Amino acid sequence: MQRRPRRNRKSSVIRSMVEETKLSVSNLIFPLFIIEGSQQKIEVSSMPGIYRYSSDLVLGEIESCLKLGINTFAPFPAIEDAKKDKYASQSHNPEGLYLKAIDQIKKEFPECCLMTDVAMDPYSSDGHDGIVENGEILNDETLEVLGKMALAQAQAGSDIIGPSDMMDGRVGFIRNVLDENGFTNVSIMSYTAKYASAFYGPFRDALDSAPKSGDKKTYQMDPANQREALIEADLDVEEGADFLMVKPALAYLDVIKLLKENYDLPIAAYNVSGEYAMVKAAAEKGWLDGEKTMLESLLSIKRAGADIILTYFAKEFAEISK
Ligand code: PBG
Repeated sequence: MQRRPRRNRKSSVIRSMVEETKLSVSNLIFPLFIIEGSQQKIEVSSMPGIYRYSSDLVLGEIESCLKLGINTFAPFPAIEDAKKDKYASQSHNPEGLYLKAIDQIKKEFPECCLMTDVAMDPYSSDGHDGIVENGEILNDETLEVLGKMALAQAQAGSDIIGPSDMMDGRVGFIRNVLDENGFTNVSIMSYTAKYASAFYGPFRDALDSAPKSGDKKTYQMDPANQREALIEADLDVEEGADFLMVKPALAYLDVIKLLKENYDLPIAAYNVSGEYAMVKAAAEKGWLDGEKTMLESLLSIKRAGADIILTYFAKEFAEISK
């Protein structure tokens, strides 16, 4: 035998020398759930180890993450039912929970990077990402709301706007609104290929944001489709996105690879709530080694081509890689 691939695996020194993919805390974004009130820290029942924080306590959580080297956060708001309406008006109320929290976080930790979420669902009484009329999701009318939301977030100090709504034309619309108001330096990380996925269940529990009727299939992508992601990516590039995202991550590694091979922008992947919950549930039962499964999952997402990973494992990964 002339060729023996096992020689390059014979010791940990050689294995680490030939390692093709390296994971680093600096590539991770940590999603955070923010709730009303004060002194609240409530675990999400379907996401063990992940909490919903009131905005006073989220500051402490951010501080401890910064010490571990996590610098970028993706906060999401859980809005009380009484404050939800058809037009998501709380989403651009500067006195609302989310915008106040963004402002507070950036004042306390100006060095941290905030990627803020643009979509109507947490604030919508219909639980959809757009305006609902006669069972239909109105695209162009929704853009107006998304524009107001993005501008208000930029004014509150957001570094990166993350449109997760999947309306057509939203990246360009938001880019124009930001630029017209002098926020040319605020970035856009587009949820480029966001699939209509069953893996979002625990997130909807955390925010109580599940659709009140119907599903999201008229705006989120069909899990059967890969080439369609190229159409979305072309549009996002033309419309001025700074990053392209694929979501979920593990079941869509082919889509991550496709975008990585076809575009020069950084590629992000969202390792979503259901992907986190599956690992945690199996680990709790003793069916999987939770830590090893986490490391292998994150590594695989990176190997497929993701430069950036949004993951609920960010803090746990940072703790073990200290
Ligand atoms: C909605 C939104 C969702 C997630 C992020 N933004 C859920 C959805 O589309 O219903 C899911 C994230 C996760 O599951 O971790 N704008």
